[in-house]
Amino acid sequence: MKISGKTRVVGIIGSPVGHSLSPAMQNAAIDELGIEYVYVPFPVEPDFLGQAVEGLRRLGIWGFNVTIPHKSTVIPFLDRISPEAELCGAVNTVCREGELLVGYNTDGAGFLASLREDLGHEPCGSSLLLLGAGGAARAAIVALAAAGAARIVIANRTRERGAALVERFQSVFPAVRFVISSLVAEELGGHLREADLLVNTTSVGMNGTSFECLPLSELRSTGKVYDMVYVPAETPLLATAKARGLAAANGLGMLAAQGAAAFSLWTGREAPSAVMRRKLRDELEK
Ligand code: ATR
Repeated sequence: MKISGKTRVVGIIGSPVGHSLSPAMQNAAIDELGIEYVYVPFPVEPDFLGQAVEGLRRLGIWGFNVTIPHKSTVIPFLDRISPEAELCGAVNTVCREGELLVGYNTDGAGFLASLREDLGHEPCGSSLLLLGAGGAARAAIVALAAAGAARIVIANRTRERGAALVERFQSVFPAVRFVISSLVAEELGGHLREADLLVNTTSVGMNGTSFECLPLSELRSTGKVYDMVYVPAETPLLATAKARGLAAANGLGMLAAQGAAAFSLWTGREAPSAVMRRKLRDELEK
């Protein structure tokens, strides 16, 4: 990697960031295109977020990703945010636009790209069952609703949290039918029978955890399963789906595609998506 006085610095802020796969993925993309950028990790503790963003601004950083736990709290320190980021209440990518720092959310676009590429699923007109109601769910809902989904069921452990999302998004997307569900087998069974696609947006599936109340046998044979978890590559949910012969994908494609969208925002170039995906896979197999 050649660093010169003209090198544009991009990176990621988070706490912790040591585990992030974005530096490896983004630098692989930079190398592939041979452009004068470098992507570095910046560990930023929550108490110093405002100072860190001001520092990045004054240092002339070209752009940065934002990860846990700063995706929402970073917003007051930015000059402007995109309509998607506003709807999600979260920013994962910041771009310098003249003197301004502008926040975007590429998680939703990454999710849609992965759905299309990995599952061949077109959300327009489809019926979805989403597990979870956190930040990842919000990004998915905004993307799916904007893409013309017909019905979105939000099933969350804490029902009120799901209900708040239904209430908020139903008024923003009146053409979509939003439904609230608890995370209990009796209720999920009925929703699974109607769903074209089941999406897990929660962390369940990491560290050997699994849903005990999910009657996946109720999903039609044409139903598909997307799990945003990518470690392990095959969660118990995906293993069950595959054993049933259902089309199923993990969240690696979403991670790659949200990164590709961020890369394009910073560089104005089409991202080498296949290279980014391969790098992620290599890193995860290490
Ligand atoms: P993220 O930004 O990654 O979505 P988050 O905002 O903390 O993270 O949201 C986590 C989501 O996973 C929530 O929907 C959470 O359910 P609650 O609202 O009931 O907390 C869900 N979740 C986390 N652990 C879970 C578990 N063991 N079982 C079911 N849902 C779980």
